[in-house]
Amino acid sequence: MSEQKVKVAPSLLSCDFSRLGEEIRAVVDAGADMIHCDVMDGHFVPNITFGPPVLASLRRHCDVPMDVHLMIERPEDYVQSFADAGADIITVQIEATRHPHRLLQKINDLGCKAGVVLNPGTPEESIEFLANMVDMVLIMTVNPGFGGQSFIPEMLRKIRNVRDMIGDRDLEVDGGIDDKTAPAVIEAGANVLVAGSYIFAGQYAYREAIDRLKDAGK
Ligand code: DX5
Ligand code: ZN
Repeated sequence: MSEQKVKVAPSLLSCDFSRLGEEIRAVVDAGADMIHCDVMDGHFVPNITFGPPVLASLRRHCDVPMDVHLMIERPEDYVQSFADAGADIITVQIEATRHPHRLLQKINDLGCKAGVVLNPGTPEESIEFLANMVDMVLIMTVNPGFGGQSFIPEMLRKIRNVRDMIGDRDLEVDGGIDDKTAPAVIEAGANVLVAGSYIFAGQYAYREAIDRLKDAGK
């Protein structure tokens, strides 16, 4: 879907956590379309990051949508808190909930856009009956939990298949995205690119890194 505009969502996971607000303002000034916030609970994934109070305090530093990726158990117990904290988009891992349909409806009822996330081992068929109710599908292109991992090439086929399922809804990819992998994921149908280490810990200034990802779709 190269005719769709490519959006870039820097992942805070690789930024300087002692300067979160400044980092957000810097990437927004550099052209970020949304800010990707990785919430990890030490149970669904073997890592822990931050929760609603930190997001609420960052909200005023951020004048683009906050894209909140919940890698937590029992997400239904927490979506209200993340909506209250100022999330614009809340994505939940399909593997973490028994009732994804109800949960996605609840996220919409809270006034947020709702998205569903698939781990690398999860087939796209698992979202067949959710595809028409979500605002976004997020395909993990690494196993969730850490930044700086290598892109899993088999996910390109999943991206193509999900693009066929969701029409022109947003299709986000997350993990191992850089200027080498971006052309292939965009060609396969992704239009929202999450990037953590490439933007915050790479060789380019923020604006150049974001531009290079966007240009990968041209
Ligand atoms: C991983 C997170 C990602 C992570 C991506 O579990 O969901 O958002 O920050 O990091 P990179 O871009 O370094 O692969
Ligand atoms: Zn993420």
